Amino acid sequence: MPQLPNGVRHRPEYLNRARQEALVAAIRAVVADAPLFVPVMPGTGKPMSVRMTNCGPLGWVTDKQRGYRYQEIHPITGKPWPGIPTELLEIWDDVSGYRKPPQACLVNFYSDEARMGLHQDKDEQDLEAPVVSISLGNACLFRVGGVSREGRTLSFKLSSGDVVVLGGEGRLCFHGVDRIYPATSTLLKNGGRINLTLRRVTP
Ligand code: SIN
Ligand code: FE2
Repeated sequence: MPQLPNGVRHRPEYLNRARQEALVAAIRAVVADAPLFVPVMPGTGKPMSVRMTNCGPLGWVTDKQRGYRYQEIHPITGKPWPGIPTELLEIWDDVSGYRKPPQACLVNFYSDEARMGLHQDKDEQDLEAPVVSISLGNACLFRVGGVSREGRTLSFKLSSGDVVVLGGEGRLCFHGVDRIYPATSTLLKNGGRINLTLRRVTP
């Protein structure tokens, strides 16, 4: 495999099956409290193909009028987001190399048809902290590029239990999900893929 950009780390099979199952249970509890919503693009109002929710003191949301941002409450229920499950805080402590805890965990749910266009995670004020990404369920084709949109990209498969860290020079690398590979995991009974990204928002 060609070399990943500096600062981008892929840890295949980081979570064993038992830890993946525990995480799915924890995320189901999050979704029960903070239901999945359909994010829409700023300006155009075009819906994204993923559904999302968050846990943590802050959650990432987007809508037509106000665009990409972090806020303390769920956009539909108006309630504070549920806390970040301890299983996720342990992963952050192990892989982030960052002394402060994450403030947001974005939960993206992909149906087998969903995808995510190439983008940077840059709505955070604290760019010293990495973004830690955890994959559960069906595999996907993940694409990562450099810090400019025009740069060369490379693609590789992310499977259930894999962790990716975007840190240091790689913190602002463009990335996206080109496709989901149906029926490649038995973790989620109804198929699809869950991606969890842990972020530190304020310094
Ligand atoms: C994201 O960039 O928010 C999600 C990445 C992924 O699904 O692996
Ligand atoms: Fe992202």
